[in-house]
Amino acid sequence: MGENWTETTSAAYRRLAQVAVPARAEQMAALLTLIPFAPDQPFRVVELASGEGRLASALLGAFPQATLLALDGSESMRAATAQRLAPFGERASVGSFDMAATGWLPLLDGADVVLSSLCVHHLSGPQKQFLFAAIAARLSDRGALLIADLVEPARGEARELFASTWDRTVELQSQALVGSDALARLFQQENWNHFRFPDPVDKPSPLFAQLQWLSAAGFAVVDCFWMQAGHAIYGGYKATPNDSRHGLPYTTALKAAEAALQD
Ligand SMILES: C[S@@+](CC[C@H](N)C(=O)[O-])C[C@H]1O[C@@H](n2cnc3c(N)ncnc32)[C@H](O)[C@@H]1O
Repeated sequence: MGENWTETTSAAYRRLAQVAVPARAEQMAALLTLIPFAPDQPFRVVELASGEGRLASALLGAFPQATLLALDGSESMRAATAQRLAPFGERASVGSFDMAATGWLPLLDGADVVLSSLCVHHLSGPQKQFLFAAIAARLSDRGALLIADLVEPARGEARELFASTWDRTVELQSQALVGSDALARLFQQENWNHFRFPDPVDKPSPLFAQLQWLSAAGFAVVDCFWMQAGHAIYGGYKATPNDSRHGLPYTTALKAAEAALQD
């Protein structure tokens, strides 16, 4: 794993994620809805930095023909993913990787979907460019790379907007979850808001630059699909648009995401 993310960070994230990630169910549902396959189609997914395996579990539940390899650099996160994905039997596997290294890249060969939520920002700009090109070269022709992540504000005004809307979202989510600001206070104590408390472990790049890197990597269709509080969902598709294709309906995706966030 990268030198900066530790098992202590993994444990802090597991405590905080339910409030610290803005509209987490919505983000997961957005990623599932953007997958360019119908629920009855077989396809192969690699998830980079699967964390506790919640997104992977929602995906395997919503796409019963899909298979998924979940990679993470943290032992405790891999254990959580393996436990959560056990009911899917041979459709799911879990492995170790360091996103900043290159030895694992052959695991992507022929994948149809590469997903990553809240990890690409641990790479520098040049490392992101390299990763996007490596993924584009290894994905199948029908493939897509879909990312949910923090993005760097392009101006000081945007930094203020990202920082304050993130704090506000966390306060609302804390009230909704536990009826108080207890979880929001934990978020503040941990200095988790990158836009107020930059940490060398976090290296988000501006969204516009990342879209350009995706395009330069060879993705035919590149876009940002969702954004809130400095968190964006963006990515690239290898194939040009096909408007006749119907993926997973958003309402179905949201139910799958909410179920995966329950336990
Ligand atoms: C913020 S958590 C996100 C987890 C999950 N994807 C989610 O959205 O809930 C970041 C994850 O990235 C993993 N990670 C951080 N740096 C990594 C690296 N260099 N290589 C592999 N995994 C890494 C951590 O172990 C952790 O599971």
